[in-house]
Amino acid sequence: MRETCVPPTRLTPFCTHHHSSEAWETFMDILMKERFIPQLSAMHEGNFGPPPSLEVLDVLGKGTYATIFAAIDRITQKEVAVKRLHHKGDNCRRIYNEIRANELVGGVTGVCPYYGHRSFQKITCLVFEKIDGIDLYSLMEQRNFQPLPERKVRKIASIVGGALSECHRRGVSHRDVKLENIMVDVNDNIFLIDFGLASFFQSYEGEEAPTDDICGSIETPQYMAPECTQDKFVRGTETDSWALGITLFALIFGAFPYSLNEMMSLFEGRDVVPLPPDDDKVTVSKDFRCRLQRLLSVDPSKRAGVEIMM
Ligand SMILES: Nc1ncnc2c1ncn2[C@@H]1O[C@H](COP(=O)(O)OP(=O)(O)OP(=O)(O)O)[C@@H](O)[C@H]1O
Ligand SMILES: [Mg+2]
Repeated sequence: MRETCVPPTRLTPFCTHHHSSEAWETFMDILMKERFIPQLSAMHEGNFGPPPSLEVLDVLGKGTYATIFAAIDRITQKEVAVKRLHHKGDNCRRIYNEIRANELVGGVTGVCPYYGHRSFQKITCLVFEKIDGIDLYSLMEQRNFQPLPERKVRKIASIVGGALSECHRRGVSHRDVKLENIMVDVNDNIFLIDFGLASFFQSYEGEEAPTDDICGSIETPQYMAPECTQDKFVRGTETDSWALGITLFALIFGAFPYSLNEMMSLFEGRDVVPLPPDDDKVTVSKDFRCRLQRLLSVDPSKRAGVEIMM
């Protein structure tokens, strides 16, 4: 039976040409297993829009839900990143959200450029600009979680804060802001990636209407805003502010502000998450401390918006 969880909007050309690399073999194996070949053949016959032009190269990364491949567009000779997601379980909603969010936030500075998607029977491939770099979690891991200098953190803060602010203006909250979902390239450009958990909102009297939807990824509860641990309505714009605060805290102090078992009790009777004092290793300006503290306000109605970091 044909699965129809993803609406057929824009189509991205895809290649069926054989490629010798291991990644391509894996890719073809999976396609074969899923009896995907007839669809691809049909594409070749011109039944599915423009002629295929992407040639898959290597695996770039693996997330919890997707595998990301490098591919080359043989028409433009440009390298792209192809995010492959299976249509199973929760993924359908995730894929739908990711496509819709990327279409809404297209062209926003600091968001990884998105080129389109192609859905097949059991998988969807989303095509993005290939970022020649690494995610911030891997970067921190590589440097043994040595804090980054304030100058670098401020640059990341202003780009990601600016990108999120524009997303919010367009009615999209990211809801999975974390080190793993921010990439830095070889020229020090910063990109927000992975809109798989994004949500969409309407403004009511200039404010986002709250929802009772889950917030953030359950795999990374460190970034979950305090209001999400209670049975309350939440706003994605406010949980994005908190998650940005935790991300910047981790970059500038080289650690998360609290351990997982501290999480529930920590917020009781507190207005903000305390910041470590300056020491020999880390000194942070008063101005940056003040902004960070305003993102990490426990009460979401007192929390600053992401634009405080712009
Ligand atoms: N455009 C890109 N260019 C280069 N590498 C990328 C790109 N997009 C993603 N990656 C790599 O793939 C990894 C996983 O990507 P992504 O976060 O989109 O997948 P996911 O399965 O949704 O992740 P999660 O586990 O956070 O849910 C990233 O951390 C990064 O290393
Ligand atoms: Mg991710």
